[in-house]
Amino acid sequence: MKSQDLLDQINAQINKCSGCRLCKVRIKAVPGEGPVGSLLAFVGEAPGANEDRSGTPFCGRAGDLLDRLLIMIGVKRSQIWVGNVLKCRPPENRGPMVDEVRACRTYLEKQLELIGPRLVIPLGKFATDHFIPEARISQVKGIPVRSGGFLIYPVYHPAAALRSSAVLAELEKDFKKIPAVLSADPHQFPIVGGSKISENQVSLF
Ligand code: URA
Repeated sequence: MKSQDLLDQINAQINKCSGCRLCKVRIKAVPGEGPVGSLLAFVGEAPGANEDRSGTPFCGRAGDLLDRLLIMIGVKRSQIWVGNVLKCRPPENRGPMVDEVRACRTYLEKQLELIGPRLVIPLGKFATDHFIPEARISQVKGIPVRSGGFLIYPVYHPAAALRSSAVLAELEKDFKKIPAVLSADPHQFPIVGGSKISENQVSLF
């Protein structure tokens, strides 16, 4: 089966998933959007209220800012993959729970394996911690590292940038570096351990 068909199949499984308590309170699951072969994969924390209603990732104000940042670097949403660590909205926008992340984890692993992005961009603290558990976002944002077979480039979350002009300035600065990171030789970037991404991805490096 083609990778795109397999990705569509995983997305269909996510839409029907009953792997944790969030399936009982969601309106729609949000599998993520974007084609196999996307150079960039952006990973947020979890769907919010707008995403829960529409089934589309980053479709609210944070998504509008993400689109604006993408335009700034000459990239269209249709050319990239956008998704989240959790595929269903936690009620009242509370943080994801450990067992919910555990129940969802293989979906993101399989999605990234099939998409094969050149750069994975965790948006914000939670997603950064998912890929680089030992990292603090303020220390690693804007710095590419290799972890779990992927080149990871954490940046601040667009929602945080909507609340602070200082964070927005940092986010814009880090976005402007994305084209250079993409065209650089990934081997020049340090490897950090402890990724929660599946171990077989290590072979990519
Ligand atoms: N914030 C996220 O982390 N993900 C979304 O899809 C929307 C807002």
